[in-house]
Amino acid sequence: MSVTILVGGQWGDEGKGKVIDLLADGVDMVVRSQGGNNAGHTVVSEGREFRFQLIPSGILYPQVTCVIGHGMVVDPGAFLRELDTLRSQGISTDNLFISDRAHMVMPYHPALDKLGEHQRGDDRLGTTARGIGPCYEDKVRRIGFRIGDLQKPLFMAKKLAFVLRLKNETLTRLYDHDPFDEKAILDEYMGYAERLDRYIRDIYPVVQGALAQNRRILLEGAQGVMLDIDLGTYPYVTSSAPTAGGSLTGSGIPPSRIDRTVGVFKAYATRVGYGPFPTELTDSLGEYLREHGGEYGTVTGRARRTGWFDANVARYSVNTNGIDSIVVTKLDVLSGLDPLRIAVAYDSKGEAWDHPIANISHYKHCEPQYVEMPGWTESLRDCRRFEDLPANAQAYVTRLEELCAASVDVISVGPDRQHTIVRRPIV
Ligand code: IMP
Repeated sequence: MSVTILVGGQWGDEGKGKVIDLLADGVDMVVRSQGGNNAGHTVVSEGREFRFQLIPSGILYPQVTCVIGHGMVVDPGAFLRELDTLRSQGISTDNLFISDRAHMVMPYHPALDKLGEHQRGDDRLGTTARGIGPCYEDKVRRIGFRIGDLQKPLFMAKKLAFVLRLKNETLTRLYDHDPFDEKAILDEYMGYAERLDRYIRDIYPVVQGALAQNRRILLEGAQGVMLDIDLGTYPYVTSSAPTAGGSLTGSGIPPSRIDRTVGVFKAYATRVGYGPFPTELTDSLGEYLREHGGEYGTVTGRARRTGWFDANVARYSVNTNGIDSIVVTKLDVLSGLDPLRIAVAYDSKGEAWDHPIANISHYKHCEPQYVEMPGWTESLRDCRRFEDLPANAQAYVTRLEELCAASVDVISVGPDRQHTIVRRPIV
């Protein structure tokens, strides 16, 4: 029996797609538990590039059952577009299920997302504008639509009449926006219902059946711990829990069944959108990392903010998620930089911190305390064993290991599957 949780340890975009792809080959089921099409995972497999937003990347393996768990929010139009793209690339989607309990992004959600951002002005969050926050808001407010509602047209119509009255009132009165048309939404969503029907399932027996048969399950996280609604830099966070805890509630798998929690960390740090980022580099070094690391968002194409590895964040992720195995990605991007810096503490108004600060206004006075490490100039692309890495790259990884108090088991030195050093297998 083996259930593995995989989480992003920083602000998302750690390169989880590649890691999930590596692990998916050795499992029977991949489940996504939170987020929606705000996520973007890129997988390069045998020279072909695949982009995922909602569908677990395990779909590339025909033997793997892929589950969109009930903790996710699903935009049905985006889901169908992703499905069509995968099919056109020759990928079978026969083993894919969407939980009937997953919430649905409705057409007014992206509109409210954008209007809400506009209203916040300078204090905007920099969301992906996919309607993720407004959809989760409705879930918690108990006026959300679930995927299973598509199979109940009368219920859907009755509920839409009620919910749309509330939404249109907000849209027209607060935002001076045109109202949404009830019939147009119903027609659009009932059209989706037909195509989605074969994928919609009560995933409880699917997941519990796999657990009962001791199948190997991978819980695929999206975003990262620092974007967690509770643990992250609130309010500059996403609206779900991209943590080990979130992957349990979003899949219905109990903590007692978890064998391993894997954290994926980039060898430096990036963030998209606004909010605290203590080790950010706004100079030519930051630009170097952005250009060499190809740090542009998969979903929105936005330039990512870049900075040094922050061990305060990494330790916090390790401790709050119970990460016992670390994957370091993009180590190759650091080739040519000397010296390298790692933040090991913060100083905020003379007070020492070893973990992220809850009060975000304190970040204005937060000075990261760095250790310096010597860099290396060699390309790492052809390294396949830890011993192949230049001594300074080995020392850098060992330092990360010590600072995080968890073992670095896999190191990625390039985008392709083969650009990987496996020190210890993780599933
Ligand atoms: P939302 O999830 O679209 O509401 O965006 C909230 C914040 O999370 C913004 O700063 C986004 O840039 C960030 N975010 C959401 N999804 C991702 C992701 O997959 N990778 C990195 N940042 C993300």
